[in-house]
Amino acid sequence: MHARKIKEGIEAICCVHWERRLFDALIPLPDGTSYNAYLIRGTEATALIDSADPELHEDLLEQLQSVQRIDYVVSQHSEQDHAGAIPVVLERYPEAKVLCNEKARDMLTSHLQVSEERIQIVQDGGTVSLGGKTLTFVYTPWVHWPETFCTHIPEDRILFSCDFFGSHLATTDLFVTDEAQVYEAAKRYYAEIMMPFRKTIVKNLDKLDGFDFDMIAPSHGPVYDRPQFILEAYRDWTSEQMKNEVVLPYASMHGSTEMMVKHLVDALARHGVTVHAFDLTVTDIGKLAIELVDAATLIVGTPTVHVGPHPAVYYASHLANLLRPKVKYAAIIGSYGWSSKAIEQIAGLIPNLKVDVLGTVLHKGMPNESVYRELDELAAAVAKAHREDDAVVT
Ligand code: FEO
Repeated sequence: MHARKIKEGIEAICCVHWERRLFDALIPLPDGTSYNAYLIRGTEATALIDSADPELHEDLLEQLQSVQRIDYVVSQHSEQDHAGAIPVVLERYPEAKVLCNEKARDMLTSHLQVSEERIQIVQDGGTVSLGGKTLTFVYTPWVHWPETFCTHIPEDRILFSCDFFGSHLATTDLFVTDEAQVYEAAKRYYAEIMMPFRKTIVKNLDKLDGFDFDMIAPSHGPVYDRPQFILEAYRDWTSEQMKNEVVLPYASMHGSTEMMVKHLVDALARHGVTVHAFDLTVTDIGKLAIELVDAATLIVGTPTVHVGPHPAVYYASHLANLLRPKVKYAAIIGSYGWSSKAIEQIAGLIPNLKVDVLGTVLHKGMPNESVYRELDELAAAVAKAHREDDAVVT
């Protein structure tokens, strides 16, 4: 790739990682990703905002080939995929200083062994003039690390947001061309790493309301030249409102739990409740995270392995607990061979979810008519809870 102009004196340096399929050994990347750095040329100084994952550092350096001098490297976020190539940039540009905040200083020196002497601390609201372009630093913590900040250039009405508003998407598109595609990728990104910090993100969004910009340049995925699109999506995802939806992750070993799940899905659908069911043995965990963003209810379906839940259910329950979605209701269903403590164990796995448990249906062996009646009653209870809750849009 070549550096590409997004505004006068501002170029995007996109290192596209087409083949990457897993992030942090945890997060699936079905569409790859990109690491975007931005080169800002003022009349007196030049700055590079963020860098790239070290795996693609040669791509980054190649795109900087014609740049003779960099005065500042702005490190908005210390995670490797944006800061990991800073050491090689500093090596090539010995005059460059790293601009970061106090929290990031410790991370950059300990994780990436950046020399303290190369670091210049900036404060929330602080500015650095490049000549005709004023870098203004806006502290936006917990999107998803504690040190993260955005950079605003008032003269160009542009906001650089690093992970905030980003999308894992390998693309040659410089700007968003397909909003539906970017919406899904950005929602996946929000769900997987930012959802646990929803309330802080609302405060960050409020803070950004005070800045004037017509473009958001994130460090993953395409640039937003219609920022309202992603700002409205974030307002929706972080709002207190939930949707009339159930997320139903499950596993089934011999078919009994699956029969219960299928019956419950049908009963909920007949009540007008949208269900997102996921067989955890084949599920992309990112899809599950996306659906947890809006749902009002989580129902877990599990068979019993020895006396506890299936390991895949264990994992998904733990993950849901970490992601802290805004779900308000929960239920557990499943089956067992001779005895089970699955319900107690699953309940113990989700202490972060402040939910009303609307029911549990646990049955020995294949479900019978009485189990199906219990599942019908559970579906009716879920639909009623959604209907009567003002925070649920029905
Ligand atoms: Fe894209 Fe938190 O790094």
